[in-house]
Amino acid sequence: MSTNAHEKVEKNVGLMAVLIAVAVSFGGLAEIVPLMHQAEAIEPLPGVKPYPALELAGRDVYVREGCYNCHSQMVRTLRFETERYGHYSLAGESVYDHPFQWGSKRTGPDLARVGGRYSDDWHRVHLNQPRDVVPESNMPGFPWLEKNAVDGATITAHMKALRAIGDPYTDADIAGAAKAVDGKTEMDAVVAYLQGLGKNAPRGG
Ligand code: HEC
Repeated sequence: MSTNAHEKVEKNVGLMAVLIAVAVSFGGLAEIVPLMHQAEAIEPLPGVKPYPALELAGRDVYVREGCYNCHSQMVRTLRFETERYGHYSLAGESVYDHPFQWGSKRTGPDLARVGGRYSDDWHRVHLNQPRDVVPESNMPGFPWLEKNAVDGATITAHMKALRAIGDPYTDADIAGAAKAVDGKTEMDAVVAYLQGLGKNAPRGG
């Protein structure tokens, strides 16, 4: 009788589609559910904290300006990568990145370890007009960053939203956010963000 039942399924496209969907979703669940639990279990590396207000504002500018279209923030586990950039990236570095900026598009270099590699002044000149410091650069300039002020109310709201999804900001962090960005430009914010990148990375290649 079971051969008859199977024949029924084989001859009924609709029924077969439904049963295929059921079979595939079991497979999907078996693969996806454990991953969700694993993601929650990832611990921040020592020293990795939610972004301070100014760096968070810089990160927002980074995302808005589409810097990720040319820059990844993920050092791969290949020797030529670790020799150039430093230790390969670990998930525990990015727990407070929403969304993460890993990526694979590298028109420019990876930025995961760029913090401290240049001075703040170098970054300012470079972001204004990259060819002033790297003549062969094809990175666009972002001269408006110096003219735009960071908005304290926006960054306070952003930090509250991040706390709602689990980032451990304290009341003092949030109360002090507007003051921390007071009088700062988007240029200040992006430079602070860039200088913080990779500062809690594991040492060595
Ligand atoms: C159209 C592609 C493109 C975009 C968009 C872009 N960059 Fe670049 N970036 C490059 C290239 C190419 C280089 C390498 C040449 C140079 O240093 O200017 C570079 C270099 C850099 C460097 C120096 C990295 C190093 O290790 O030497 C930093 C920092 C940087 N970019 C930051 C940014 C930021 C911040 C943004 C967004 C505001 C941005 N870039 C947007 C292409 C881009």
